[in-house]
Amino acid sequence: MKDKKTVITYGTYDMLHEGHMRLLKRAKALGDYLIVGVTDENYDRSRGKLNVVQSTKKRMKAIESLDFVDKVILETHKNQKVEDIKKYDVDIFAIGDDWAGFFDYLSEYTHVEYLPRTEGISSTQLREKFDLIKMGIVGLGRDTQAFIDAAEFVSNVKVNRIYSPDFLAVKKFTKNSKTVKYGHDNYDEFLDTSISAVYIDTKLTEHYKLIKRAIEAGKHVLCENPLALDKNELKELLMLAKKRKVLLLSALKTAFLPAFNQLLKEINSGVIGEVKEVRATRTSLYKEKDYPDSFMQQGATNILSSYPSLLVNKVLGKSKNLTFFDQGEDGYDVSNLIISKHKDGAIGVSRVATGIKSEGDAVISGTKGYIYIPAPWWLTKKFYIRFEDEHKSQVFNYEFEGRGLRYMIAEFASLIQRGKRKSKMLTPSDMIGINRVLLEYNERKLKEKKSKKAKGSR
Ligand code: CTP
Repeated sequence: MKDKKTVITYGTYDMLHEGHMRLLKRAKALGDYLIVGVTDENYDRSRGKLNVVQSTKKRMKAIESLDFVDKVILETHKNQKVEDIKKYDVDIFAIGDDWAGFFDYLSEYTHVEYLPRTEGISSTQLREKFDLIKMGIVGLGRDTQAFIDAAEFVSNVKVNRIYSPDFLAVKKFTKNSKTVKYGHDNYDEFLDTSISAVYIDTKLTEHYKLIKRAIEAGKHVLCENPLALDKNELKELLMLAKKRKVLLLSALKTAFLPAFNQLLKEINSGVIGEVKEVRATRTSLYKEKDYPDSFMQQGATNILSSYPSLLVNKVLGKSKNLTFFDQGEDGYDVSNLIISKHKDGAIGVSRVATGIKSEGDAVISGTKGYIYIPAPWWLTKKFYIRFEDEHKSQVFNYEFEGRGLRYMIAEFASLIQRGKRKSKMLTPSDMIGINRVLLEYNERKLKEKKSKKAKGSR
């Protein structure tokens, strides 16, 4: 006979309240040793819980400070409950009766107990006291409607205004939209309203000045990449955001996907050994006319490189050296191969093309094994960790609906609510590293153009 009875329970415990306390005490009373699993933010988001106010660290600390709790663990994935029950030799799994029936499958491994829930209080209720983040949309770009639709899933965000200099387009948009009812064709007037944040989706050449004015007006900014087309401008914007204490974030949705963050965690745990090469491809058959922005006509790198650069940068860190191989047609690069050198001799291989179609997958190669992300890797849902011994291989699967924008909006809103001005998922130095590829490419193209001109006039 065991002399100690072990009880386990799980929850998010956002803004620890009386209901949580009572449940935890009831759980402890069932045995002698209480283990509490606190749900990780990334896992919560992957389950559709997008509006948790406190960070994982804060929520864990709150539970750790309770003297009747004996052990606190982090819950990061779906099958963990079974693993934990076996690992800790758990006698009772306890949970509130709002989950009645849901965890019956665990009775195969342990005794399952549903405990009465406290009426009249919940984290959801407490969250209602927080102000809604009102957001305005700047521009009428390709992703505008998708952004508005995704924001509907993030309950602490409300998108209710739009700005575009095109008066008629704005009028038409607000007339047809169910949620965005206020339209503006004057940027200053738009910034002067009660919105606290903006999402910018316009021509790339306009990003810098639109971001700058929004920051100066004290608004948090989420903007499609690249934020600026010049190194100094990008640094200036990041400095300005810091000075004005607002959040400035690139809308690189991959960076915020639950599967992508799980992938980075696996790599950091050393499961594939030392990473020596990251290879990522992104191709899309755009025509020049899809990008009327004259700047864009210089090549595939401008349109598509941000995503491969994100993966390379996140896994290998800053690049020391960049080499480009271009395939051009009429002065426009239909394809670019970008090779970057990193710390300890690691290599990044980014392939982007608008005139060639290829498989959009990614492979991260290490000294012990590799990770394969099938196409489209930038909408990371599934990835495989593989080894020479195929029996050791693992699959990670995080299905999600929509285009993955909701996780980015959830992170943006959470950071604002927590008073944070940087995202760990996409730091200012990540943003600089990612844009370096694009900025160096454009500098080089400009030089080439100039020297061609000089030769021509000789
Ligand atoms: N719980 C409870 N009484 C409440 C609220 C929660 O007994 N009034 C229990 C839940 O049944 C669960 C645990 O506390 O066993 C953790 O629940 P969690 O989902 O973190 O708390 P909620 O307040 O229900 O959060 P939300 O409103 O976000 O669903």
